[in-house]
Amino acid sequence: MTPSELASPDGTHSGRTPSRIVVIDDEQDMRASISQWLSLSGFQPETYASAEEALAVLSADFPGIVVTDIRMPGMDGMALLKKLMGMDATLPVILITGHGDVPMAVEAMRLGAWDFLEKPFDPERMTDLARAALKARGLALESKALRQELADGSTLMRRLVGNSPEMVRLREDILDFGQADGHVLIDGETGTGKTLVAHALHAVGPRAGKKFVSVSCLGLDDDTLAARLFGPVEQGGLPLIEEARGGTLCLEDIEALSPALQGRLLSVINDQPTPPATRIVAICNDHKPGRTLEDVLRPDLYYRLAAMKLTLPPLRTRGEDILALFKSYAADYAEEYGSPAPDLSAQDAAYLLQAPWPGNIRQLISIAEQAVLQNRRGTGSVVSLVMAENEASGGALTTEGKPLKDYVEAFERTLIDNTMRRHKGSIVAVMEELCLPRRTLNEKMAKYSLSRADYT
Ligand SMILES: Nc1ncnc2c1ncn2[C@@H]1O[C@H](COP(=O)(O)OP(=O)(O)O)[C@@H](O)[C@H]1O
Ligand SMILES: [Mg+2]
Repeated sequence: MTPSELASPDGTHSGRTPSRIVVIDDEQDMRASISQWLSLSGFQPETYASAEEALAVLSADFPGIVVTDIRMPGMDGMALLKKLMGMDATLPVILITGHGDVPMAVEAMRLGAWDFLEKPFDPERMTDLARAALKARGLALESKALRQELADGSTLMRRLVGNSPEMVRLREDILDFGQADGHVLIDGETGTGKTLVAHALHAVGPRAGKKFVSVSCLGLDDDTLAARLFGPVEQGGLPLIEEARGGTLCLEDIEALSPALQGRLLSVINDQPTPPATRIVAICNDHKPGRTLEDVLRPDLYYRLAAMKLTLPPLRTRGEDILALFKSYAADYAEEYGSPAPDLSAQDAAYLLQAPWPGNIRQLISIAEQAVLQNRRGTGSVVSLVMAENEASGGALTTEGKPLKDYVEAFERTLIDNTMRRHKGSIVAVMEELCLPRRTLNEKMAKYSLSRADYT
C-alpha cells in the first residue's frame, strides 16, 4: 500500500498536495511583494503582519507551509519557529533573513527550519523552495494519517485475546481481508466476536480514516429500512450507503433482510465501481440449528457477499483461549472495581474449560465480572458461578474439542499463574517452589503467554 493509494477519491484525506502559504512580515511592502509573486506563481498566499496573528490559523495538521520574516516586533521569527516546531516538527518554515543574519539562519536550520532566504531574495528561488516544501508537507501529512490508522488498527487487534490456532488464523484473515476491497460476510454464534471483528477489518485497512456505519436489518419495516439504506431520506440527509462512502457499511442481522431488499442490495452492489465505493460487511446473527445463511439469502447475493467469509468458532471449541480470556477480562474488572481478581483453582479451570458457553465470549466476560465482584465480597467460587449459569441455560458440561492435554495444560498454566502472583513475579522463588529449572519455567511461561512484568 502506497500513501497515494490511501488518499481518498475526494481528496479530503490529505490526498491532495497542500497549497496554503502563510506569509508573515511586519512590513506592508514586503508582504505585498511576496504575496504578489507567490500568487503569480499559482500559490495561495495569506498574509499576516505578526506572528501572533498567524498563530491563530496554524495548527499541527495545517495543510500548507509558513514563510516568515525573522526581525519583527512582538514575537520574532525565531520564537515563532520554536513554537511551531514544538507543535508539529514536520511543518516546513522558511525564514527570511536580513543581510548579515547568516549566523541566525544557521541557528534556525538547527532548530528545524526548512530553509532560509536572504533579503533581497530571488523570486525564482522562493517559488522553488515553496513548491518543494508544499510537496514535502503533503507526504508528511499522509504518512502521519497512515501511522494513525495503523496505530488504531493495532489497538483493536490487541484487544483480540487468545493464541489458539483458530485465533491466530483469525488475526491473519483480518489483516488479509482488511487490506482487500471486496465485501465480507461474518458468521458465527452469538458473542463470538463478529461485531468486534467487523470493526477490526475496517480499522486495519485503507478505509480506516473513513466512516464505519452500522445498521441492523432487524425490526425495521421494509420501506423504512430501504429509505435509510438507499434513500431518499425523509428529512434530507444521506442514505447510509452514501454516508459510508469510502468506508464500511456494516449490515448486522443480514439474515433478516427481506427478499425484496436483498434484490435491491444486490443491484446497488452490482452498480458500484471496482473497488467498491462502500465496502459492505454483512453479519449473520441468527443461529437456528439446521438453517444456514445459504438457505436464507438469495444465492446471487450470498455469493457476492461470501467471496470473503469469516466463520468465528464457538468458544467451547477453543479450549486454550478460555482461560486467557477469563484472565484478561478478570484483570480489567479488577482494575475497574479496585479489587483483586480471584485466584483460579485447578477445579475452576476445569469447569471453565468444560462449560458449553452458549453465549460465548460475551457470557464469559459476564462471569469474569461476577467473579471479581464475588471475590471482593469474599464469597463464592468460580465453579459455583459456572454451575449456576449452566443450570440456567440447561447446558451440560462438555469436553467437545478438548483432549486431556488441554486440561493438563490449563492446570499447569493456572498453577504457574497463581505461584507467580503469590511471589510477585520473583522467578527464583517460583522455580524453587515448583522445583522447575529456569529454562523450563521460561518456556512454559512463553507457551501460556504469561509475562513476568504482569506480576511485579
Ligand atoms: N478475541 C476476543 N478477545 C477479546 N474479547 C473479545 C474477542 N472477541 C470478542 N470479544 C468481546 O466479546 C464480546 C462479544 O463480542 P461481539 O463482537 O459483540 O460478538 P457478536 O457480535 O458475535 O455477538 C464483546 O465485548 C467483544 O469485545
Ligand atoms: Mg454483534
